[in-house]
Amino acid sequence: TEIQWDVSAAEKGGYQHFMMKEIHEQPKAVRDTIFPRIKEDDVFIHELRMTDEQIKDLKKVFIIACGSAYHAGVTGKYVIEELSRIPVEVDLASEFRYRNPILEDNTLAIIISQSGETADTLAAMREAKRHGVRTLAIVNVVGSSIAREADDVLYTWAGPEIAVATTKGYTSQLSALYLLALHFGKIREKISRSDYLEMIQELKSLPDKIEKMLQDKEKIQYLANQYIGLKDVFFLGRGIDYASALEASLKLKEISYVHSEAYAAGELKHGTISLIEDGTLVVALVTQEQLYGKIVSNIVEVKTRGAFVLAVTNEDNKDIEKNTDYVFYIPKTNKNFTGLMATIPMQLFAYYVAVAKGCDVDQPRNLAKSVTVE
Ligand code: AGP
Repeated sequence: TEIQWDVSAAEKGGYQHFMMKEIHEQPKAVRDTIFPRIKEDDVFIHELRMTDEQIKDLKKVFIIACGSAYHAGVTGKYVIEELSRIPVEVDLASEFRYRNPILEDNTLAIIISQSGETADTLAAMREAKRHGVRTLAIVNVVGSSIAREADDVLYTWAGPEIAVATTKGYTSQLSALYLLALHFGKIREKISRSDYLEMIQELKSLPDKIEKMLQDKEKIQYLANQYIGLKDVFFLGRGIDYASALEASLKLKEISYVHSEAYAAGELKHGTISLIEDGTLVVALVTQEQLYGKIVSNIVEVKTRGAFVLAVTNEDNKDIEKNTDYVFYIPKTNKNFTGLMATIPMQLFAYYVAVAKGCDVDQPRNLAKSVTVE
């Protein structure tokens, strides 16, 4: 008998889709982005040619990107502000380039792009440079236009990403932002030595924690299969969880064509709650211990109106079971790094809903991997 080689299955490493292959490559992508930049329990970003003085003098950071890279930037804002106390403004590249932003001395523009070729992002970076602002690009594709033109490049070592929906590209962007935030925080003396060392250890443990969640993926598949007929989903979160909600919502929409919205949980009663009816799926992202009480009261509000609530929360927050219908537990990490944990089950959820609906997961309709036109 003749052996039939399936070339496309081989390219996908035995997975049905590139997206699932890339989801499983995340422990490696995160490890390869973080580990070479930690030496003897110290963050060491040799690509960043800013002096300690320049970092200390920073008055403002702009983060500029599109799509998921923008969501990484929203997380980055929370983490950089928390750890280094530099004010951060996050901009969609398509807005930044046309809005006449106020760019003063001692400003750094962080440009995030997986492909390094996104037209709006490249144009926004050129605009920042034209105003004399220093640019630091977080890019995955080596030698891409954004990488070539930026003052400094911090590569995410995720390897080629084929699926249109980004997964390992996004989580390696978060990893790079965590490193930067810690580095800035240390130089600006905003983090105690013990917190710094604890966070270094946490960064090193992230790949294993992702691995652990991937082993639990059938739980998410089971849940997704109940939701094939899904019309609307609402993702709620506060703080960093709000940023993760934005990404979870985009992931679901782009590959499964299910309408979804991400809401800062406190905004619910300013309008959205009127959309909640019997059986509406609400996914509550609950990783910020200091905000547990606040989000639980939002969960109670939607449950009272008939919502089915899935919570994604830290493994020690068993209390949440009292007010929710289903819980997916994520490994505990430092509060600044939970975005990376909460994102993995949300990628899996989007993937399984899309597969169950028979969608073209790797190449969703109307979308391109790299948006090189405006
Ligand atoms: C993510 O899943 C998207 N397909 C899209 O939002 C993407 O993140 C965006 O187009 C930005 O691309 P870039 O990172 O290559 O610049």
